[in-house]
Amino acid sequence: MTDSKPDAGRARILGMMQGYRDTSLVRAGVELGVFDGLAEAGLDPEVLAKRLDVDARGLTILLNALVATGLMEHDSSEYRLSPDAARYLVSARPGYVGHLTRILASDWEWDALKLLHEAVRHGGAVVDTHAETPNFRYWEDFAKHATLATGPTAELVADRLAPWLSTRDSVDVLDVACGHGIYGFTLARREPRARVRGLDWDNVVPIARRNAEEMGVDERVDFLIGDMFTTDLGGPYDVALITNVLHHFSQEDATTLLKRVGEATKPDGRVVVVGFTVGDQSPDRDPAPHLFSLLMLTWTRAGEVHSERVYREMFAQSGFARPEIHTVPGTPMRVLIAERA
Ligand SMILES: C[S@@+](CC[C@H](N)C(=O)[O-])C[C@H]1O[C@@H](n2cnc3c(N)ncnc32)[C@H](O)[C@@H]1O
Repeated sequence: MTDSKPDAGRARILGMMQGYRDTSLVRAGVELGVFDGLAEAGLDPEVLAKRLDVDARGLTILLNALVATGLMEHDSSEYRLSPDAARYLVSARPGYVGHLTRILASDWEWDALKLLHEAVRHGGAVVDTHAETPNFRYWEDFAKHATLATGPTAELVADRLAPWLSTRDSVDVLDVACGHGIYGFTLARREPRARVRGLDWDNVVPIARRNAEEMGVDERVDFLIGDMFTTDLGGPYDVALITNVLHHFSQEDATTLLKRVGEATKPDGRVVVVGFTVGDQSPDRDPAPHLFSLLMLTWTRAGEVHSERVYREMFAQSGFARPEIHTVPGTPMRVLIAERA
């Protein structure tokens, strides 16, 4: 009897070697407007090529590869979207995720991950431009196309803080490295007394400002521009948000940042940390934070996804106590809320 397992293992490894082809395919389809071009009806490739102003032979090769991966269907001379592509890759539809190619499949990540082996040798980023570079252009795309986990996680933060906030005389919020700003703006939308100050680099703040306007909270929002490690944070604040940031740094540097934020927080204030967090499970049972750590290795000097234990140590060393840790259903994120000790 033949054992099928070795073949499945071999196929999986060969598939991993070629994973970038799938990435290129979906990215090219989105960038050329192929999915939008077929949103209403199936088309002959010559007709679609004219509409998209691309080479017909190149497009036919791309379309056939999309058929091969199940994102397209083909009959007689026409290509049409598969149900998944119709649902998730047409920009006018509510399920659209094509914009996330700018985050999940960006040139910036790819350039860094191509050098993963060098990053492992070196123990950190070997590319010149990365997550810690001031005014990094990637963060503009990140702010424009917040990930799918952002909305639900921001609501969860607001839910968890709501009972405590209702007992406060004031709700002054600092959102450190705010990016799109959605964590702070969600709090402001939920709590009419909240005033939010977002801090980020000057290429990102205009995008956050637009989001505040769109969410109708701009009159209660202002911004600090500059480096979160050196800019005067003002305050004191009732709540400090540091979301999806601390994994960019070593435990030591993340603790330094938490201490700075602690000094800008009221004595009975709260700090909220959001991010991938390594728990007790082995990596094969909880892969997402470990795979994300690869990006941190290639894209920062000393960052990595921290464990719950390390977060507890960082809170204790920076003057925060009694951390609560919440999972965010359907996402690999955790929300950690600690009290100023
Ligand atoms: C992963 S994004 C997080 C954005 C948002 N807080 C969230 O939870 O999605 C990291 C943000 O940190 C900002 N950033 C990185 N280093 C910074 C620094 N030294 N000072 C200020 N902002 C910084 C980037 O511009 C970017 O907007």
